[in-house]
Amino acid sequence: MTDAPADAPREPATDTDAPADALHGPAADTDAPREPATAVDAVTCSGLRYCFGGTRAVDGLDLTVGAGEVFGLLGPNGAGKTTAIRCVTTLLPVPRGMVRVFGHDAAGERMAVRRLLGYVPQQLSADAGLTGRENVALFARVFDVPRRERAARVGQALEAVGLADAADRMAGTYSGGMVRRLELAQALVSAPRLLILDEPTIGLDPIARTGVWEHILAVRAAGGMTVLVTTHYMDEAAQYCDRVALMHKGRVRALGTPARLTDDLRARRGDGSSPTLEDVFRDVAGSGLDDPGEGGEFRDVRRTRNTASRVG
Ligand SMILES: Nc1ncnc2c1ncn2[C@@H]1O[C@H](COP(=O)(O)OP(=O)(O)OP(=O)(O)O)[C@@H](O)[C@H]1O
Ligand SMILES: [Mg+2]
Repeated sequence: MTDAPADAPREPATDTDAPADALHGPAADTDAPREPATAVDAVTCSGLRYCFGGTRAVDGLDLTVGAGEVFGLLGPNGAGKTTAIRCVTTLLPVPRGMVRVFGHDAAGERMAVRRLLGYVPQQLSADAGLTGRENVALFARVFDVPRRERAARVGQALEAVGLADAADRMAGTYSGGMVRRLELAQALVSAPRLLILDEPTIGLDPIARTGVWEHILAVRAAGGMTVLVTTHYMDEAAQYCDRVALMHKGRVRALGTPARLTDDLRARRGDGSSPTLEDVFRDVAGSGLDDPGEGGEFRDVRRTRNTASRVG
């Protein structure tokens, strides 16, 4: 459970990607400035492009996430959601276009950006061979939580996700929902202003899914955090997200509140039906959902299964 699955896709040799755990490396103090004093958007992407060899994973992405929003990035397998998110976290470079996090340039101020965010990746980030508390303590250390605050902050993060009672059990004995909540605690221990969650509830039962969301919203209510989340569960997006963007083939194809998007589709159809967000998703993704060359590629399915099986 510690390592990524053996058959996990490898980055191409030309990819200047930092290692996945580089985000968790000690924060250097070299690239201040810290946050600007004025209120700015949490995330701004403009004309973002990212290619894996000949595959345009992100193809001119324009996106703004306001401070304090719960923002859902939706789209079919292979739409480019994870790639875009990894550019925002600075785990991937920004070869073309611009990405800012609370005003800081993800290309030029990587450490300043990293200090502002917590990230729960689509792939595994908890270590089965450590207890829950040890897992969170590890993140506290590498995120430079001051030594004398660490024990208390670790305890608070575990408490916030409902794992206080299980904190001293090995993470390998946790259920899928508990593992996802542990990963949430890891991301929260540094008190991020922006929490990025890549499919936080995939493979979980409905009760565990609700549990994860309740913890996310409780922490956000307490701290005013911004949340950027991807999910394939349209019911979750409709219920919990202030706004959503539907991505397809590397670009945003629809953007707005869930109610606005369903209203727009109803108006376009004009047949008196009441479309859901899933109908909007199908409308945007269109035939790409059925075309193995455009969405749902083998490696995407394999990756999704890997994620589901490790939390399931
Ligand atoms: N490491 C990689 N090497 C090569 N191609 C990749 C890599 N990662 C992603 N891709 C390709 O980039 C495109 C976008 O993938 P990405 O993972 O960003 O999609 P996604 O929207 O997150 O999909 P999912 O919903 O399945 O998680 C896909 O065509 C995918 O095959
Ligand atoms: Mg993804």
